[in-house]
Amino acid sequence: MIKPDAVSAGHTGAIIKIIEEAGFGIHAMRKLQLSRKRAGDFYAVHSERPFYQDLCQYMSSGPIVAMVLTKDNAVEDFRTLIGATDPAQAAPGTIRQLFAKSIEANAIHGSDSPENAEIESNFFFSGMDRY
Ligand code: CMP
Repeated sequence: MIKPDAVSAGHTGAIIKIIEEAGFGIHAMRKLQLSRKRAGDFYAVHSERPFYQDLCQYMSSGPIVAMVLTKDNAVEDFRTLIGATDPAQAAPGTIRQLFAKSIEANAIHGSDSPENAEIESNFFFSGMDRY
C-alpha cells in the first residue's frame, strides 16, 4: 500500500517503477481513500499502541494505492525493498529512505507474513477484483 504522504506528493509512479524494476508483478491495483473506521480495521493489530489514533487519522487523510504483488519470496523481498519502518533507519535506496517523511508518514506498507498478505489482499480486493 502506497500511503497518503507518498500519493499526495506525487510519488506513486516513481514507487511503482521501483517495484516493477525489482521484479515484482502487479496482480491487482486500486486507488481509494480509507475511512477512519476502515483504517482502524486495517491496523487493528496496533490498537493498543500509543500511535494508533494518529495512525488512523493519517491513513484516512487522503488516497492510498493498494496493490497485490507477485514474486518468488515476495513478502521478504518486498520488506527489503521498502526498508525499515523508521526512514532514519532505512537502508540507502529503499523506498522509505527515498520517499518517507517520518516514522508515521513512511510512504509505503508491506505485509509482514504470507498469512497477513492474504488477509490484507482480501481487505482491499475481493472475488473477481483479484483474479
Ligand atoms: P507500517 O509498516 O504500515 O505498520 C504500522 C504503521 O504504524 C507504521 O508502518 C507507521 O506508519 C506507523 N507508526 C507510527 N509510529 C510508529 C512507531 N513508533 N513504530 C512503528 N510504527 C509506527
